[in-house]
Amino acid sequence: MKAALLELEARAKNCVGCELCKTRTNIVFSDGSPNAKIMLIGEAPGADEDKLGKPFVGRAGKLLNEFLKNAGLERQKDLYIANTLKCRPPENRKPKKEEKEACEKFLHAQIKTIKPKVIVLCGATAMESFLDKKFKISKVRGEIFDNVAGYKGIKFVPILHPSYLLRQHSLDEGSPRDLTLKDLIMIKKTALD
Ligand code: URA
Repeated sequence: MKAALLELEARAKNCVGCELCKTRTNIVFSDGSPNAKIMLIGEAPGADEDKLGKPFVGRAGKLLNEFLKNAGLERQKDLYIANTLKCRPPENRKPKKEEKEACEKFLHAQIKTIKPKVIVLCGATAMESFLDKKFKISKVRGEIFDNVAGYKGIKFVPILHPSYLLRQHSLDEGSPRDLTLKDLIMIKKTALD
């Protein structure tokens, strides 16, 4: 493990930068490999993540794992996974602006340390932290953005969030699940080939 990440995680464990420190059980810092070429950024921990201290370990995480596997990606080797917020918002509500502002230093430092080739912005919350807020995820998912200010050389790709896919069952061509699998296959090619 890179020393810089361990130090950052220790700082996050002691963070009292926003109200969420009062209700968290654990911070949720990361999973996967610090040497990964792909970094996936989600929204915030849910109940399972808060309990276990790992991102994407609940129902949405299990679905994400299926998609990664079907795209030929190994979660523990090919990805470094983090969230926009390190602490769980009560009742899984959307992160507040001040929570995102208090937490963004951790995410930015994680990116600078990992230096991924591709960043997968998983869902609208992660996307809004890096891309123009006018974008709709349903319109721009699967597109490569390689001009994000402050992140020269990194390709950003928004994808649909697995919590949304849990409610979308069709596998038909052009369905949200079909498009997400295609996006992940494209991401694998872009990052690993
Ligand atoms: N949803 C997220 O965005 N992140 C998690 O870690 C779990 C669910």
